[in-house]
Amino acid sequence: MSEPIVLCDNLVKIYKVADLEVVALQGLDLEVEAGEMMAIVGASGSGKSTLLNILSGLDLPSAGRCIVDGYDLTRLSNAQRIHYRRFIVGQVWQQSGRNLLPELSAAANVELPQMLSGVSGSQRAKRAKELLAMVGLGDMGHKRPFQLSGGEQQRAAIAVALANQPKLLLADEPTGELDSVTASEVLHLMRTLNQELGLTIITVTHDAAIAAEVDRTIAIRDGRTSTETVRRETALESVEAHMQTASAVIGLPTETHRESVLIDRAGRLQLPKEAIERIPFNGRAEVRITDDHVEIWPLVTETNGKN
Ligand SMILES: Nc1ncnc2c1ncn2[C@@H]1O[C@H](COP(=O)(O)OP(=O)(O)OP(=O)(O)O)[C@@H](O)[C@H]1O
Ligand SMILES: [Mg+2]
Repeated sequence: MSEPIVLCDNLVKIYKVADLEVVALQGLDLEVEAGEMMAIVGASGSGKSTLLNILSGLDLPSAGRCIVDGYDLTRLSNAQRIHYRRFIVGQVWQQSGRNLLPELSAAANVELPQMLSGVSGSQRAKRAKELLAMVGLGDMGHKRPFQLSGGEQQRAAIAVALANQPKLLLADEPTGELDSVTASEVLHLMRTLNQELGLTIITVTHDAAIAAEVDRTIAIRDGRTSTETVRRETALESVEAHMQTASAVIGLPTETHRESVLIDRAGRLQLPKEAIERIPFNGRAEVRITDDHVEIWPLVTETNGKN
């Protein structure tokens, strides 16, 4: 297999606020192949934006390794970080106001990142025109953000993010402020860019419809990757009853998607919440290893065993 474009190994992020420490990521592992379009889901506060901010080079992890396209994000010099943020990653935020400068036209917004990286005026204008056409705003380059609908603003934001031809597009809830029809159009655009440009895309979402569209969805729980859901190449006609419980986290149909629990190199895994709630483990389990599987049982107390 080729080298992944994104490799996070045991990533830790601790925010210090006054005397308090908030552990936002606690040993997160993630690999993303070049050309993949994947989604990250998880409850509010689970660490999704923290991860994206590290991948975008905006923020530094407290510990662990994070390598994107050969750039070790924990060891970049200032000049390398600027280069990385300018040419390797593009970023789209949920709030359209954060993506576009309100006083500039859509075209000028797409030209700006190119201007900062020294592209000539005529080249910039040509590329802005091409990109706006690619995102379906071919005739709206002259409009300012307030003259565009929410969906059009997010399309323009994607064009801005792609201005310097990055390899990786990071999108934090890019459709969070859109209605479901517009959201699915923006998602479809991202899918097209992924397929036609071979662009690697990581998008954070709360929306199960997005999770259903992408190649792979990772669920983050308490700052760690807990499960992974991959679309099946061929839909199954029926699924055995014991497998139906395995897709409880993201909630996609087991006929079309397969959900698995992730196990890190040290053998750690997170049991699904449902399992912890239903079975009284009390922090301990007995592990029984057989030829082809492992069983995890709650401990039988000594007194129970003797009686
Ligand atoms: N700059 C910061 N300073 C202090 N704590 C922070 C900071 N940013 C995030 N946190 C904390 O880190 C944890 C993870 O936050 P993060 O924003 O990554 O969550 P999220 O999964 O993106 O949530 P949401 O779905 O609400 O956007 C939370 O407990 C949050 O309060
Ligand atoms: Mg967030």
